[in-house]
Amino acid sequence: MSAGSQAFAARVVGWQKTHGRRGLPWQDTQDPYRVWLSEIMLQQTQVTTVLDYFPRFLRRFPDVKVLAKASLDDVLALWSGLGYYSRARNLHRCAVEVVARYGGEFPSSAQQLQTLPGIGRSTAGAIAAFCFGERVAILDGNVKRVLTRVLGFDADLAVATNERALWDQATALLPHRALVQAMPRYTQGLMDLGATVCLARNPGCLICPLRELCVAQHRGSPEKYPVKTRKLKRSAQSLWLLQAYAADGAIWLAKRPTPGVWAGLYCLPVFESREALQAQLPVRYRARLLDAPAFTHVLTHKDLHLHPVAAPLPASALAGLEGAWFAAHEWPDLGLPAPIRKLLTKG
Ligand code: ADE
Repeated sequence: MSAGSQAFAARVVGWQKTHGRRGLPWQDTQDPYRVWLSEIMLQQTQVTTVLDYFPRFLRRFPDVKVLAKASLDDVLALWSGLGYYSRARNLHRCAVEVVARYGGEFPSSAQQLQTLPGIGRSTAGAIAAFCFGERVAILDGNVKRVLTRVLGFDADLAVATNERALWDQATALLPHRALVQAMPRYTQGLMDLGATVCLARNPGCLICPLRELCVAQHRGSPEKYPVKTRKLKRSAQSLWLLQAYAADGAIWLAKRPTPGVWAGLYCLPVFESREALQAQLPVRYRARLLDAPAFTHVLTHKDLHLHPVAAPLPASALAGLEGAWFAAHEWPDLGLPAPIRKLLTKG
């Protein structure tokens, strides 16, 4: 982009005043509860649908304290038809936390807002900019498209460092003056440009206020932005872990085979099913098995759903299994997978 960032911000603000969307029920309010609710609803839902749900939701749950006191069933019932129900579950959890941690007042910085359930960096930025005039960027899908085009930012956004670089550039472009007026306008302006002008296909460059500044437009290829390669398809696997312990507290560990998950590390005996785990033990010991809560461990290309099954066992019961007892004082020096170390040392 050739012009300075203030030229950019001023154009976005000026355009929003004359051509941006107006009169939406969540605009012209600085109430974080309303802005938060609208931003969550608008994440995956069209404005026209939200126009229907938003007032109904507010009539039933007029503030965050009422929402926190409601049952999740009631919240889900009002959300019914909007889809992506994890949004409704997080909404309810978030309301409970705002009451428990902040006495029912939303915190006023993007940094604090981001610690609440369901509020990511961009949503936190939107709430802080709209309600408190904080100088903080947003970067949802529409805004990514606007900014990568204007900047000619062609690095792959599937790579985390590139995404971070775009956040930095988005921050550098923010207005510097009169933030309480400018930040809401600017933030809404970028959203509106992305939704009504800078479209994925058929971008309206001829009517765009950023035309002269836009690198992608000068290159004649706005549709090529943003650049994002497809993420590798992730897989998932469930594993059962036998947490056999001796009378003195030692744990049975075996070295993982190579190749495979955790190759070469010491680990609890791993099985592909609970049946397979049970089948390894003499019948008379099987009633001792106690299922601990399952947890997920995220690997680069795979989610591992881990199911620990604990039992006090004599070495004779483990005759069919490779491995040996290791006392707690030996664990710090063993190469253990992080989730296994955590499991062994918790509590
Ligand atoms: N999408 C996300 N936030 C929005 C907002 N404040 N106005 C219109 N569309 C949006």
